[in-house]
Order: sequence, then C-alpha cells, then structure tokens
Amino acid sequence: MNQLFAYGLGFVRQDHLGTLDVWFAHLACGGAAPALEKVLATNRKSIVTPISGAFGEKIKAALGASADALAPLLDERGSASPVAVTLLEDGPIEDIESAYLKLHLISARLKQPNTMNLDGLFGVLPTLAWTNLSPMRPQDVPAANMRERLRGRSLQVRLVDKIPPLTDYLVPTGVRIGDASRIRLGAYLGEGTTVMHEGFVNFNAGAIGPGMVEGRISQGVVVGAHSDLGGSASIMGTLSGGGTVRVSIGDECLIGANAGTGISLGNRCTIEAGLYITASTPVSVFDAEGARIGEVKARDLSGRDDMLFIRNGLTGGIECRTNRSKVELNAALHAHN
Ligand SMILES: CC(C)(COP(=O)(O)OP(=O)(O)OC[C@H]1O[C@@H](n2cnc3c(N)ncnc32)[C@H](O)[C@@H]1OP(=O)(O)O)[C@@H](O)C(=O)NCCC(=O)NCCS
Repeated sequence: MNQLFAYGLGFVRQDHLGTLDVWFAHLACGGAAPALEKVLATNRKSIVTPISGAFGEKIKAALGASADALAPLLDERGSASPVAVTLLEDGPIEDIESAYLKLHLISARLKQPNTMNLDGLFGVLPTLAWTNLSPMRPQDVPAANMRERLRGRSLQVRLVDKIPPLTDYLVPTGVRIGDASRIRLGAYLGEGTTVMHEGFVNFNAGAIGPGMVEGRISQGVVVGAHSDLGGSASIMGTLSGGGTVRVSIGDECLIGANAGTGISLGNRCTIEAGLYITASTPVSVFDAEGARIGEVKARDLSGRDDMLFIRNGLTGGIECRTNRSKVELNAALHAHN
C-alpha cells in the first residue's frame, strides 16, 4: 500500500446546496498511523467517506486507545455527520473537504506554509456568512434573521468570507491572539507566537515563533523565530496587487511600526519604523565601517542577513547599514503564552 498524503476524521456540515465546512477532530500526514491508513485506503470509496457501521468499527480498532477521545465521532448518531477525508496525494484542490483538510494541516502545525499544493482553493470554497449559529449562504441570512428575531434573539454575522477564523476550528498551543477574527484558518502560528489586535495572519502564511505579530502577514509569507512585526507593519503578499515574489522574513528581525517590505530579509535585519521597502527602491549601501559602497535596487539585497534599513533623516535617502543591535523580544510579554 502506498502511503496516503494526509487524512482527517471530523464532522462535515451541509445544507441543501452541499458542503459548508468541515471540522477535524483528528488529522495526520501520511505514515503517522499505519493501521488507520490501511483502513482508510481500503475502505475509500471516494475522498470523503461517511463514518458509520463497519467502517466506523474498523477505524475504532485501528485507532486503539486513542479512539476514546473520538467517541462522539465514532459512536454517536447526532445531527452532525462524521466523515473520513482521505488525500492520496498532494494534488490541486478539487473539493471543499480537501480544502479544509489542507488548511487544518497548516494550522495544526503538521505542514508549514508553502509546502502544499493549494491551487484551486478559492474556486472550491463558497463565500459564506459566518454567524453565531453556523455558517450559512449569504442568501439564507434574511430568513435566519427572521427566525432568530421571532424568538427574541439576534443573529450575528461575524464575517462574510470563503475562509473562517482559525480559532473556530482549533487553538494552537502556546499562542496568544488579541483578535481571533484576524487569523484565518490555514495560518501557521508556532509555539510562543503572540498576535496583538492589529496583527493579521492569512492562510498559508505565518510565524515560526516565538515572536510578536502586530502587523500583517500576507499569504505565502513566513516570519522566522524571535522576530517582531511592529504595529501596523505589513509584508507584501502575492494574492493581489501584481506581486509575484514570495517574501520571507528570517530570525531575529524587527520590522518597525508602520514599516513594510516587498523583499525578503535574512536573519537579524531591521527596518526603521515607517519605512516601506519595495523591490525597486533605490538603496545606498554602507559597509560595516560606515563607508558608502554604492547604490542598488532593494531587490538585490533580498534575503541577506544583518541589514538595517533607515530613511536618513537628513538627506531623505534610504540606506542599508550593518545592523548591530539584536532584536530582543519582551520576555514578560512572551513568558505566559
Ligand atoms: C531604525 C531604528 C531601529 C534605529 O534605532 P536606533 O536606536 O537609532 O539605532 P542605532 O543606535 O543602531 O542607530 C545607528 C545609527 O543610525 C542613526 N540613525 C538611526 N535612524 C536614523 C535616521 N532615520 N536618519 C539618520 N540616522 C539615523 C543613529 O543615530 C545611529 O547613529 P550613530 O551611530 O552615529 O549614533 C529605530 O529608529 C526604529 O525604527 N525602531 C523600530 C521600533 C518599532 O517600531 N518597534 C515596534 C513597536 S510596535
């Protein structure tokens, strides 16, 4: 038997038009639980298999002792529909169930951003109204509002989007999140990551942790360990605006408040507060002794270590100097995640 790429056991929610979302109680990448893989591979009628009867019993046997924690999935017959979702390989996304499985894999830290094929994600995911009751089609919101108000209650629509907030599905260990609506399912938040209220993390993007995120991490961007993304700072992504270069930020970097970058940074780099570096920005480069050695486009410096970018307060020119100060995360802020 070939290894499966990934699989998950969870509940699918559906309405008259089809699948709305999937929540996974148990998920793994290929090879993690061979007995369970065998059951899923041999019983796989389609990528999504309802868990019931003999199939459920086989899953239970394959899980052994860990089946207890999944009893509601394997034993109960409630209104929720338990399913097994199986991916044989990492192909383009063709259905909602695989989209949710891949987003869960990243947020559960089983896969890092940019390591899976996410082509087709936006095409398969419907735009839904995420409410305090459950997700629903936007066209169903007026009727739901009517029903709730007849009962003296109110319907809260938290967002209208294709991808829901991460913490509605799982809470990664060792993180703090100021505003959960700003972290999408599919974001990677490593152990020790703090995201303050102004922070935003897209799907297939994230912070390795520990680190401080008070700015925006766009799709495809990964921020290294012990780095600090200052208040309202932003890192350019590739989803919109014509950007094609995937930006990454190394370890021990500081992107100052209201600053940003469209080039990658290596380790121990700093961008001055308020300074936005784009790929074509002309930059004067200084050596470690402070002597000017020339002018380059910022893209030529992409990915290098120990850079300090400032806009010279006297000349207005943008400079790249040798970064001498190490970024120290505020220990008191990170000690209690
Ligand atoms: C860029 C930054 C790190 C520089 O800080 P600093 O304490 O001045 O750093 P350094 O002491 O290493 O500065 C190196 C030199 O560059 C000079 N310099 C710094 N910024 C300069 C500027 N904009 N123009 C001209 N010179 C500047 C310093 O005066 C110093 O000169 P010196 O060696 O002759 O004394 C700081 O201004 C900054 O923007 N920090 C970001 C903080 C932040 O936003 N955190 C997130 C909060 S949410």
